[in-house]
Amino acid sequence: MRPRASEVFFLTRNVNKFEEASAILGGFGINVLMMPEERLEIQSDDLCEISKFSSLRASRAHGVPLIAEDAGLFVDSLGGFPGPYSSYAFRTIGVRGLLKLLDGVSERGAEFRSAVSFCAPGADPLCFLGSVRGEISKEARGSNGFGFDPIFVPEGGGGRTFAEMTTEEKNKYSHRAKALEKFARWFKEEWAPPSKCR
Ligand code: IMP
Repeated sequence: MRPRASEVFFLTRNVNKFEEASAILGGFGINVLMMPEERLEIQSDDLCEISKFSSLRASRAHGVPLIAEDAGLFVDSLGGFPGPYSSYAFRTIGVRGLLKLLDGVSERGAEFRSAVSFCAPGADPLCFLGSVRGEISKEARGSNGFGFDPIFVPEGGGGRTFAEMTTEEKNKYSHRAKALEKFARWFKEEWAPPSKCR
């Protein structure tokens, strides 16, 4: 299981994340291969620390270069909650629960953040950050995407939620697209695959 120089594994089971990454990285001539494994996560407030740990563990275990991502939704009026706990919040209170927490709250600013970490065998992980500002809508709208997409309205997106956009449109604004673009530029310009993975 050794990728070519223009290929990288993406440690994720999330088909939506994988499609978003394939479109972005494909634009840079990088082919993405899904590594559909459970991602080992540490408890931390720092998305980069979480994704670095996941990429390091998986890269060492499989002996291949790969990326892992950790993302979160930071709501201003909730002091940044759910942030690094977004996946737990999504599983427990979900979209409806988050809307309920903001019932009657006029300050609806929020930010999606993505930390994409790349790790190759024998090297330290590197983290690339991306973020997008927006607002939490009053109600869920749209059926595309995943997670909190139906209630996040990105700045400059014409008032539509991410779930009302195609993957291509979401990729013009999203936190993940920005982090992946940073990674892709670095990968194309700076990274040279080791002659032999340890
Ligand atoms: P993860 O740990 O990186 O999978 O992200 C944590 C949670 O944040 C996910 O379960 C989603 O609910 C939410 N999330 C992360 N990125 C996105 C996104 O692009 N759209 C909608 N929700 C997202």
